[in-house]
Amino acid sequence: MAGLIHDVGKIILDSYIVEKKEEIESFMEKEEKAFFDAESQYFGFNHAEIASEVCKKWNFPESINFAIKYHHQPGKSDSDELSYILHMADYIAIMSGIGYDSDDILYELEEGTMDYLNITNEDMSDIVLKVTESVNKISI
Ligand SMILES: [Fe+2]
Repeated sequence: MAGLIHDVGKIILDSYIVEKKEEIESFMEKEEKAFFDAESQYFGFNHAEIASEVCKKWNFPESINFAIKYHHQPGKSDSDELSYILHMADYIAIMSGIGYDSDDILYELEEGTMDYLNITNEDMSDIVLKVTESVNKISI
């Protein structure tokens, strides 16, 4: 459920992003910052925080609201397992080419995530390969 809804804040912010698109792109290029950083810079909050607030209004379980809020920064979640899992799943989806966005090239796995989840580089390669194969299988 958290994986399906975690980026709903992007949809909510979209019309505001369009108004500042050139400024935001310029900021990202000049500062070498990800879109997530640009959101905070231009709006004072990011899509993860908005999504979390919306999920509260929708009476989602607090564990989901919390994980969504920290899905880009699990290190700020006070070691919340679902926040780390959501962050890792998001990263794997991007590495596997699922739901590619122009900002994804700058998406970084937060330091400490692999250690927290006890995942090695070899595990990661296997997971990305398996996800890619599975997606290709159902996409044909
Ligand atoms: Fe996100």
